[in-house]
Amino acid sequence: MKSFSGIVKKNNGHFFTVNDQPVILFAAETHNSAGTSDDYMKNVWKKLDELNCNAVLVPVSWESIEPQENYFDFTLLEKLIDSAREHNKKLVLLWFGSWKNGLSTYVPAWIKTDLIRFPRTENEYGIKSRILSMFGSDILQTEIKSFKRLIEYIKKSDEKKQTVIAVQVENEVGILDAVRDFSSPAAEAFEKNVPTELLEYLKETKSDSFMQLLKHLEHTSDRSWKGVFGDRADEIFMCWNYARYINELVTYAKESYALPMFTNVWLKESDYERPGFYPCGGPVPEMIDVWKGGAPCLDFIAPDIYAFEFDRFAGLYARNDNPLFIAETRRDKWSVANLYVAVGKYNTLCYSPFGAESIGENKSFITQILHTNSADKNVSCEMVKEYLSQSYKLLRNMMPVILECYGTDKMTGFSQDAIRMSKHLKLGKYQILIEFYHQIDEENEFIPAAGIIIERDENELLFIGYGYRAYLKTINKGKQLDFLSLEKGFFDQDANWNKYMDLNGDEQHVQMEEKVTILKAKYYEF
Ligand code: DGJ
Repeated sequence: MKSFSGIVKKNNGHFFTVNDQPVILFAAETHNSAGTSDDYMKNVWKKLDELNCNAVLVPVSWESIEPQENYFDFTLLEKLIDSAREHNKKLVLLWFGSWKNGLSTYVPAWIKTDLIRFPRTENEYGIKSRILSMFGSDILQTEIKSFKRLIEYIKKSDEKKQTVIAVQVENEVGILDAVRDFSSPAAEAFEKNVPTELLEYLKETKSDSFMQLLKHLEHTSDRSWKGVFGDRADEIFMCWNYARYINELVTYAKESYALPMFTNVWLKESDYERPGFYPCGGPVPEMIDVWKGGAPCLDFIAPDIYAFEFDRFAGLYARNDNPLFIAETRRDKWSVANLYVAVGKYNTLCYSPFGAESIGENKSFITQILHTNSADKNVSCEMVKEYLSQSYKLLRNMMPVILECYGTDKMTGFSQDAIRMSKHLKLGKYQILIEFYHQIDEENEFIPAAGIIIERDENELLFIGYGYRAYLKTINKGKQLDFLSLEKGFFDQDANWNKYMDLNGDEQHVQMEEKVTILKAKYYEF
């Protein structure tokens, strides 16, 4: 039998494999409620086909599969898996369990209404929240049983076909509007010492910020959370406990079926944001190491990048111990450009704008938010859909070529930002100046330009993307560079290069079109 889907480490890169084949997920995530209606999903499948997606991320909530305790209903999931197969898409399921965006809105009614077995977090004034507490609660044991049933169902119905290839565990965990759970059982846990495993892990990783923070331990025997972590104790305490909780869920679930499992994060977008404004306890950049120590069974942590600084945040999560996987991102005009950075520069396992069925619509399909409202980070338009679907098609066709470069220094990706009109890059022996054609601002309708450059061998480069010119020099002293040939073309479905035309004379420049294209350049030095 073919082996499971999974994450494989090769060269310096991570590869997502399905049936032993490496694959990049060119995906989109549906709106939250999509999976609750087979009828509604019809439109979503149509949109995913138009976008040329090979995968889709869809929520499966606890309340939908276990409406009464120990009574499971997988009818909707069965339909979802069947339809995914019909549309030739892989499925990443998002388990909306105890926590979704910090809150606990997706747990079944029998959990919501039983505050004795399933107490809530409390703020420092003793006010209860809509968030389930992990402390002094039956929730972990109860969720383990339910999540395991879900994973067992997936194994039973899908192991042979492997339509479901990964599962996100919870959604953007963390406590909102408080820095910590102040309920009595939580306070009791906070009074205890920091677990030695956490301290050992942080020492071993030698992460700069934690080494600084832990330096004072040489002079004190106080190992309480406050004593060790000072001002950051509340957040680190919550992180550790959420991570341990999720690790338990994953450990038990993987005993049944070892699918790749990950969790996603609501980012702290600026240094001014206080914990609680973003869900406190989630794996925000400064807390990745705490999470890695607490949840070693998770395959990776996936950032939801809605922030404008896509490149910076992607870089923070693309680590040796954490492959990049973009589970959610904007669906506005920046979403196309960011795809090239995610794939070309950070070798992402998955790229997935949020709100699949709203991509290219004037109005968010289901939430009814107008896309013209610039306060909505998801402004979308017809052009976004066109560029995204063209890009997905082109990159999917050449996936083997791209995957050969994963984990190497043979590829780079870049995009235009709102300020600069040019960029300097280095690839192999080439120094590259990229100039963009249009200034981008909120007033005009240009799609920010982007590209990927691949060094196929020392003298052959592929230029992919749109909206830029590239000027190249060699780093070899006293040498100049000239074209041997420049071809315009495309990769067919079998990843074979199809030349469309030769470019020479007036046309012999790396001058990309406004639409997504590929140029293949051969150079020589003299
Ligand atoms: C982030 C959440 O993870 C999604 O489920 C969804 O609520 C989006 N935000 C909406 O922008």
